[in-house]
Amino acid sequence: MELYLDTANLDEIKEIASWGVLSGVTTNPTLVAREGVDFKRRVKDICQVVSGLVSAEVVSTDTEGMLKEGRDIATWAPNAIVKCPLTPAGLAATSQLSREGVKVNVTLCFSVNQALLAARAGAYIVSPFAGRLDDINEDGMALVEQIVEVFHIQGIETKVLAASIRTPLHVTRAALAGADIATMPYKVFKQLVCHPLTDKGLEQFLSDWKKAMATVAAKG
Ligand code: G3P
Repeated sequence: MELYLDTANLDEIKEIASWGVLSGVTTNPTLVAREGVDFKRRVKDICQVVSGLVSAEVVSTDTEGMLKEGRDIATWAPNAIVKCPLTPAGLAATSQLSREGVKVNVTLCFSVNQALLAARAGAYIVSPFAGRLDDINEDGMALVEQIVEVFHIQGIETKVLAASIRTPLHVTRAALAGADIATMPYKVFKQLVCHPLTDKGLEQFLSDWKKAMATVAAKG
């Protein structure tokens, strides 16, 4: 499973990219707005930092507008991918863009049937939002599991990207479900690497090493 960062913050992206484990980045209008920067400039900058796919979302609500924006986004960088919402207009735009060879990530997916529609429209990626389903007392990761299973049964090649991830457990469940990609905020990415026994173990190793080296040095 590929690990993506869900952010438009360049410092966060650079830090996680330096670990050598970052496969791509997803952004959405909220995340870009939070940065208060020029959308195109920022997406281009992100595309330089990561070699994997970088999702940039259209903000039009009609198909023509989405097509115009999508075609433009696709020229920003070879690894820029267009994000379209899971609406009738978004499906129509996805269908047309896909026919033109533009990769589309269909976002705001909350059901298996929506995911099937995205796949039929030619989506390269479909993004079920796990955390937002949890917010309304549903099991968001169960949806990810179902989509992965249905795509497998149906021989659908559209990639499943587990989005709206809020906890490290979401990441584990996405991997167990067989999701192709999980995108997460910086905070969750940092939580993935942390374990108190790793810290404790390292502290012990270094302390034992220091003591042993001091003994060796004392012996001459
Ligand atoms: O980028 C889409 C998605 O990951 C948003 O997550 O936490 O705002 O529901 P969240």
